[in-house]
Amino acid sequence: MCGIIGYTGDKQSASIILSSLYNLEYRGYDSCGIAVKDLDISVLKDVGKVDEVNTKLNFLSLEGHTGVGHTRWCTHGKVTKENAHPLLSNNHKIAVVHNGIIENYLLLKKRLQKEGFTFYSETDTEVIPNLIEYYARSKSFIDAVQLAVGDLCGQYAILIMSTQYDGLIACRKESPLVLGVGHNEYYVASDIPAFAQYTNNVVYLNDGDILYITNKSYSIYNNNIKQQHPVTTISREIEETGKGDFEHYFIKEVMEQIDAIKRLIFIDQSIISEVAKEIIKAKGTYMVACGTASYACMYGLYLFSKIAHIHVNFCIASEFDNFKHFLTQDSLVIAISQSGETADTLMAIRSAKEKGAKVISITNVEGSTLTRESDYTILQKAGQEICVISTKAYTSQLAILIMIAYEIVGNYKEAVEILKDLIKYLYYLTSESMREYIKLLADKLKDKEHIYLIGRSFQYPTALEAALKIKEVSYIHAEAYAGGELKHGSIAMIEDGSPCIVFVSNETESSIISNAIELKARGAWIIGVGQRNNEVFDYFIKVRELPWLNSICQIIPMQLLAYQLAILRGCDPDKPRNLAKSVTVL
Ligand code: F6R
Repeated sequence: MCGIIGYTGDKQSASIILSSLYNLEYRGYDSCGIAVKDLDISVLKDVGKVDEVNTKLNFLSLEGHTGVGHTRWCTHGKVTKENAHPLLSNNHKIAVVHNGIIENYLLLKKRLQKEGFTFYSETDTEVIPNLIEYYARSKSFIDAVQLAVGDLCGQYAILIMSTQYDGLIACRKESPLVLGVGHNEYYVASDIPAFAQYTNNVVYLNDGDILYITNKSYSIYNNNIKQQHPVTTISREIEETGKGDFEHYFIKEVMEQIDAIKRLIFIDQSIISEVAKEIIKAKGTYMVACGTASYACMYGLYLFSKIAHIHVNFCIASEFDNFKHFLTQDSLVIAISQSGETADTLMAIRSAKEKGAKVISITNVEGSTLTRESDYTILQKAGQEICVISTKAYTSQLAILIMIAYEIVGNYKEAVEILKDLIKYLYYLTSESMREYIKLLADKLKDKEHIYLIGRSFQYPTALEAALKIKEVSYIHAEAYAGGELKHGSIAMIEDGSPCIVFVSNETESSIISNAIELKARGAWIIGVGQRNNEVFDYFIKVRELPWLNSICQIIPMQLLAYQLAILRGCDPDKPRNLAKSVTVL
C-alpha cells in the first residue's frame, strides 16, 4: 500500500525521489519521507501529503547521489512523524523503506531489545535496519542483510541504504518491486510510473530476489543463485499527462472514459477470442476481484448468463480461499484488477494456480504482477488511473466483459458496434449540462447522513458501485440493495426525507418502480436514473436505454455526483482519507 523508491546514479537523488514520490502518492499519503546518503545519512520526514511535507521541510536540501523515499499508508503504528519512513538503525548507518507487513516483528523486536536496541517507532519496519545492524557487527554487510531478510516473515518490498554499502540493496516477497535501468543510474520502486519519466527499461523482481546495485551495475540473487531476469522495454503508448485543465484527477479520469472505451474498439480481437475459448472450454469459471473491480465481476455474471448463457461464479478475492477446493485443472479463474497488484486478488490466483486452474486477468497495468502470473491478460489500455477512486478503469472493465460475452456467441462485430454507439452517448453523459444538473442534485444531498440506492439485475452492481463511489469520496453513508431485498429488512431504515436513488432499465422497470413506490410510501424522496421519468421520482436523471450498456451509462452520473458531493463537503476527491489505490497488503 505504501510507495517506495530508491535511486542511485550520477544525479542528485533528492529531486528524482521527490518527483517519484508524487507519482507514488496514490498508494498512500498519510506521511512521507526521504533519506539521502552523502558521508552520513540524512532523513527528512513528517506527517502529510508529499507537497505539504516538502513545503515544510524542503526535501531538495538533501544532498547525495543515493537515496530512498517512502509515501505511507499506515498498517502498524499511527500516523506520526516517528512512524513515517525511512527508518534508521540505532547507529544511524542504515536506512530502510518498506512496503508490506513483517508479521513476526514483535518477536524480532524483543530479541533486539534484549541485545540493547532501542525502538523509536511503533512500526514493524524498524526491526529491519536494526537486525541488519546487529548482524553486521560480526558479518559482512551483505551477509548481514541476507541473515536479516532470512529472519523476516510476512510480505515485503524493502530498500536498504547504508554508509557501509556503496549503492542500494532491495528485496521482495509478495509485494511489488521493479528495477528501472537508466544510463549509469538505477531506480527501484513499487511500480513503473514512479520512474517512467526517466527510463522505460525495467526488470521485474520475483519473490525471494535480492537485488544488489553497486559500482554502476546490478546483480540479482535468489536463494544464493544468480538470476538473469530480462530487461523489458515498456511501451509509452498512453502516458499520464498531469491534470491538464482539470482541478482533480477524479474529474479528468471521468472525462477520459470516452477515450478509454474508444481504445478498446481497436483491441486485438484474437486476445478476446482466446479468452472466450477458454471460458467455453472451462468446467467452472470463477471471477475474483476486490472493491470496484468486484462489481465489474458481478456485472459479468449477469452478462455471461444473459448474453452467452454461461454460468460463471463470483467471489470477492479475499474470500476465495474458502472455495478453492472446488477448483480443478479444468477450472478457469478470471481476475479483474485495475492495478494488477491487489494482494487479495493475487492470493486468489495463486491458490487457483496451485490447483492447476488457468488464470485470465483483465488489468490496466502492463507488467503488473497479475499480468506476469496469468496465462492470458487483457490489457485495458484505459491510461494510467491516478485518482485513488476508480472510474475509467471500471467502465473499461465492463466494456471488455461485453466484448468477451459477444465473442462467446460469435458476435464480436456487434459488440464493437454497440460500443461505438455508446461512445457517442458518453459525450452527452459527461457534458457541461449533465455536470451542472448533477451539481444541483449534489447540493440537495450534501448534508444528508445516509443515501440508499436500489437496482435489479444489471442495475444491482451499478447501485453497489455508485454507493461505493459516494462513500469513499464524500464520506456520506451510502448503502445499496437489490430492489427485491429491501422488504426483507432494510426498508426499516427509511424515514421521512431519506434520499433513495433508483436505477431503472426497460427490463426491470415495473418491479423497481414498485420498490420505489414502497420507499416513497415510507417518506423517502426518490431520484430516478433511467430512460423514462415517473411520477414517483422527485428528481430524475435521464439516461438513455442502451441494452447491456446501461451499467456503463448509469454509473457516469453517479461518478459525477460523488465528485460534486466531495467538492461541496470540502473533501479531497483524489486522495480520500484512509484509502490507497493499490492495496498490496492482505
Ligand atoms: C474504489 C477502488 C477500489 C479498487 C479495489 C481493487 O474506487 O478503487 O475499490 O477497485 O481496491 O483495486 P484493483 O482494481 O487495483 O485490484
